[in-house]
Amino acid sequence: MAMITPRLYFAKRLYSGVSSNVKAQKYVLTKYFQGEPKKSDFKIVSEELRDLKDGEILAEAEYLSVDPYMRAYMIGYKLPTDMIGGQVAKIIASRNKSYTEGTYITGSFGWRTHTICNPDDISNKAGLLPITTLPDFSPHPVSLALGVLGMPGNTAYFGLKEICQPKSGETIVITGAAGAVGSHVGQIGKIMGCRVVGFAGTDEKCEYLEKELGFDRAFNYKTVNIKAALKEGCPNRVDCYFDNVGGEISSTIINYMNKYGRVAVCGSISSYNESQLPKVSILQPAIVLKELKIEGFLVNRWTDRWNEGITANLSWLREGKLKYQEKIYHGFDNMVDALVGILRGENTGKAVVKVK
Ligand SMILES: NC(=O)c1ccc[n+]([C@@H]2O[C@H](COP(=O)([O-])OP(=O)(O)OC[C@H]3O[C@@H](n4cnc5c(N)ncnc54)[C@H](OP(=O)(O)O)[C@@H]3O)[C@@H](O)[C@H]2O)c1
Repeated sequence: MAMITPRLYFAKRLYSGVSSNVKAQKYVLTKYFQGEPKKSDFKIVSEELRDLKDGEILAEAEYLSVDPYMRAYMIGYKLPTDMIGGQVAKIIASRNKSYTEGTYITGSFGWRTHTICNPDDISNKAGLLPITTLPDFSPHPVSLALGVLGMPGNTAYFGLKEICQPKSGETIVITGAAGAVGSHVGQIGKIMGCRVVGFAGTDEKCEYLEKELGFDRAFNYKTVNIKAALKEGCPNRVDCYFDNVGGEISSTIINYMNKYGRVAVCGSISSYNESQLPKVSILQPAIVLKELKIEGFLVNRWTDRWNEGITANLSWLREGKLKYQEKIYHGFDNMVDALVGILRGENTGKAVVKVK
């Protein structure tokens, strides 16, 4: 099977443009990130949009997503390049009967205000999360299509259920536990009858996880001894580990697992801003002696089951079993601040940018 590269996954341009009344603005990455992303790594470019052809729509972004992969993946692109990313957009003009004006959609359009595309064009779908018309989320905001009811929500849903396959009564440990994916994984773990223990970067986040989201225990990884926290929080050790951060904390957790434990390797945010990858404790003895299963995944593995995840998460949300927080940044000019914000841990739950 062909490897799914970040480029294939996120980056296809869906339009090209000349002439119309609408001017789009977009971020173009002109320098590779070094350490934290900086505004000076980008140029904001204005673009005249052309008239729509048959089958096309014009979508105006309302919420843009900032996600950790944006920091990790851009190294794979030839510069200059349009910045990648998902968005919730409203259709403001349409020459496609299936996509009427006023409808909200999600698309991997990148950091841009307006997009012309043909949602039916098969070439738009190769390797990308498909353009999706939003179901009725009311009374919840449409921005949830970038969080609990979108890519991070499905990452939690499929990553936990398919890779960790937890059974009721088992113990799940989650790093990055207060973020978009981690906070969601923990709640599904509770719905599935498991003991759930999280690691997050502030005491306030830990309190939120325990008091609001029902985690059995949450520890501030910046201030506790990880081994001691595991001993205290996981009296029956660890059956499933949902790894969002990588690094030494992951080695410590994996060494504390039970026989036949399962690890879902979702991401390694602890290394995304680093130019030198960290050296961590060896894992092979634990993997062999405890017969562990460690599996990485990309959520687009389940593109053909996308609606299953959205529907399950929406039902849990409506039943009050799934809660969310959003960190909302304001203004198209603040995209870089928002991206830096998630890498610094400013967010609890999903971070999004409200364009206007
Ligand atoms: N495999 C896939 O398909 C897929 C899909 C989506 C996301 N992901 C991955 O899942 C992980 C979480 O993504 P998300 O969207 O839910 O982001 P997020 O957790 O909402 O935001 C990032 C969080 O990472 C934490 N963090 C930052 N630097 C850290 C460090 N050095 N060590 C530990 N934690 C650190 C911060 O929280 P603290 O305050 O707790 O430090 C921050 O709030 C990322 O690794 C991402 O790449 C993978």
